[in-house]
Amino acid sequence: MASAETEHRAPFSLDSYYVSEKLGFVLPDPLETLPPFYQPWMYIALRVPEFVNSHELRSHINQMPLLSTQFLQSHRELRLAHLVLSMITMGYVWQEGENNTVKMLPRNLAVPYWEVSQRLGLPPILTHADAVLANWRKKDPEGPFNMENLELLVRLPGGDSVKGFFLVTLLVELAAVPAIRSIPTVINGVRSGDTVAVAKALGNISQSIQDMNDALKLMHVYVDPSVFYGIMRIYLSGWKDNPCMPQGLVYEGVQTEPIECSGGSAAQSSLLHCFDELLGVQHEENCCEFLTRMRNYMPPAHRKLIHDISLQPSLRGFVQQQANEDLNKAFDVCVSALLALRSYHINVVSRFITVPAARARQLRNNSQESEGEMVSRAPTSLEERGTGGSGIMTFLKTVRDKTKDVLLPDTANDNCH
Ligand code: HEM
Repeated sequence: MASAETEHRAPFSLDSYYVSEKLGFVLPDPLETLPPFYQPWMYIALRVPEFVNSHELRSHINQMPLLSTQFLQSHRELRLAHLVLSMITMGYVWQEGENNTVKMLPRNLAVPYWEVSQRLGLPPILTHADAVLANWRKKDPEGPFNMENLELLVRLPGGDSVKGFFLVTLLVELAAVPAIRSIPTVINGVRSGDTVAVAKALGNISQSIQDMNDALKLMHVYVDPSVFYGIMRIYLSGWKDNPCMPQGLVYEGVQTEPIECSGGSAAQSSLLHCFDELLGVQHEENCCEFLTRMRNYMPPAHRKLIHDISLQPSLRGFVQQQANEDLNKAFDVCVSALLALRSYHINVVSRFITVPAARARQLRNNSQESEGEMVSRAPTSLEERGTGGSGIMTFLKTVRDKTKDVLLPDTANDNCH
């Protein structure tokens, strides 16, 4: 029986979690430039690919003045500052590839970067919240959200594939907005025992997850796997569990001990974390450890939303209790959509990492032929690992299989035949 507390509590809503009605976790109208005082940062951030290419980025950064962060006030200013300083940092660390990394980030970059990170509750490294959620503008403000009308604010080396990679991921986030909006309806329906409302909201979530899958397919259109693997990937890499930077990175003027941070990954997107908590997916210990760590790379309000969804009465338990055919079906269709998305994502990872990694290995064993091939420029230390530091395929397959486990018993048995 529901306690007095659960009967009288306010309906669950997204109001206090910095989730936009129209854009979900995506930052609405990101600022495109910082106040003029921060011009030295903007100047370098807008030229990261160019300066990396000419091997001048580190010297430009070393000459940057140490700027106070006190003139950054609004949330959008702080988000742009974090994006800009993150892009500069990734370029600084990886300018010379995996063999000539740095042990220390200079004070004039490290100190303001640390302060901005502290104020936002984000780590001092490039995250999904920077590169995807806060890194877009519309060319025509009245036009649609599509590849033709979208542009990045700040780029990493990799040309059009960088643009494709971040903007396709943005489109996946946007396709998920109806799903995120339906979460409160599911939770409130479970609380009040409204089977019809829960089934309908689960239907909306399933549709939205299928739309995410369709958006993810665009990766094959807009991103070249050799460029992704051979050029871009290193700039998303972090300094935790990374053999090129076994000690992490010292942020000069912040603390003398090195800091370890995982690289950027869409595992830092709040979307699938929300779905997993809603549907009751429980990951295996190793996977869970990584995914839980990724939550520390999200804006704190989004992290809190995931946590609060996890505290709600069990949706799966409710579905089983009701024994209603429509509701059972809606639940299983939703789990199957998430399963299909994870399976498709594994395909994408195979095309963008496993296949080019095999090619790179082949070229290395056959050294004369490797000249000029993009994949052979990729860091060997990243071959079997994700930028977030995970052992890729085993991890992704285990996560997918745990999703299967929440199918209702009859469907799960059917799937075994
Ligand atoms: C070329 C495109 C992509 C590649 C190569 C890729 C690669 C990876 C890799 C290697 C991992 C393992 C974790 C890590 O170490 O980072 C991962 C995890 C993950 N990726 Fe992607 N990814 C791509 C696009 C996307 C997109 C667009 C999304 C959607 C937002 C996404 C969502 C996830 C999620 C949620 C995880 C955590 C595992 C899970 O919950 O199933 N990825 N990805």
